[in-house]
Amino acid sequence: MLILGIETSCDETAAAVVQDGVTLLSSAVASSEEFHRKYGGIFPEVAAREQVKWILPVIDEAIKKTKTIKDAQEIDALAVTVGPGLIGSLLIGVETAKALALVLKKPIIPINHLIAHFYAAWLDTPKQPQFPLIGLLASGGHTDLILMKNHGQYDWLGGTRDDAGGECFDKTARLLGLGYPGGPAIQAAAETVNPKPSATTQRLPRPMLDQDNFDFSFSGLKTAVLQATKKVSSPEKTAQELAHEIQEAITDVLVKKTIRAAEKYRVKTIVVGGGVAANKRLKEKFQSTLSHQLADTALFVPPPKLCTDNAATIASCAFFNFSPIPWQKIQADAGLSL
Ligand code: KG4
Ligand code: ZN
Repeated sequence: MLILGIETSCDETAAAVVQDGVTLLSSAVASSEEFHRKYGGIFPEVAAREQVKWILPVIDEAIKKTKTIKDAQEIDALAVTVGPGLIGSLLIGVETAKALALVLKKPIIPINHLIAHFYAAWLDTPKQPQFPLIGLLASGGHTDLILMKNHGQYDWLGGTRDDAGGECFDKTARLLGLGYPGGPAIQAAAETVNPKPSATTQRLPRPMLDQDNFDFSFSGLKTAVLQATKKVSSPEKTAQELAHEIQEAITDVLVKKTIRAAEKYRVKTIVVGGGVAANKRLKEKFQSTLSHQLADTALFVPPPKLCTDNAATIASCAFFNFSPIPWQKIQADAGLSL
């Protein structure tokens, strides 16, 4: 089955064609990130205007890139992100997908962007994730842990009480003058630090790590970084050292809480999704901690291109949760939750 996925929840305009939920035939992504870099964050009005400009060229490109199909008539179904996200951005993808479903007379499946992030783990991989699994979603707006028993069957275990992990990367990068988006900027700055400072120097807090729950909190870390920036004498060097410390603190909390959940629920697999899953240090820590503590648990950290927003995850999620509804009933829902 060929599904055309469409994703416009934030500042990426994306379309992709996926076969049977697992084979990525094409993926096209246009991003308005460079505009937002100027403001140090996302400007919703700019994001929505860029979505309008790119939605049709991106869909056209995704169809053409497949090589195996000639036009959109050959797809079997459409899938579209209905939320959560910025309402102006979401509406463009949703209304375009509805128009295509009407004209092409194809079924259309509404998709929750948060759940779709996990489906990066099913794409282009020799082995598929086995249930039950623990899913860590770490993106710009969300940090959540879920227990997934099967496709469409999941329990929410906990999430952030304030800022998301990605948001903490973005806000602290801004404090350090490292630019937007903060995650890749902090990672790059941290990599320049050599030798790595010892864990005891400038140790930032690991919020909520000692609590017996699956919740997170990252806003205190931001305050601690602000205080640390005021103490320094050589700003440039210290910005890099601080970037290293921030990355260590955020990844410590994410890895330890996720592995605790995997131990508690005795799962077969851990799947990490969302933009922060693109972080190299996060993957390294998961790999080394699992090899010591839970060697039988399989880890899926998709390649960075599939971790950040894209439409292949939307199409894959639709295949495994195939529940089309009439296009008239599909609506964007900016506040949709897990
Ligand atoms: O999933 P995503 O692309 O968009 C949302 O749905 O939010 O996630 C974007 C977030 C941003 O906060 C960005 O700084 C973070 O993912 N991010 C990273 C890395 N690449 C992107 N964080 C840490 N390390 C990275 N390499
Ligand atoms: Zn996302």
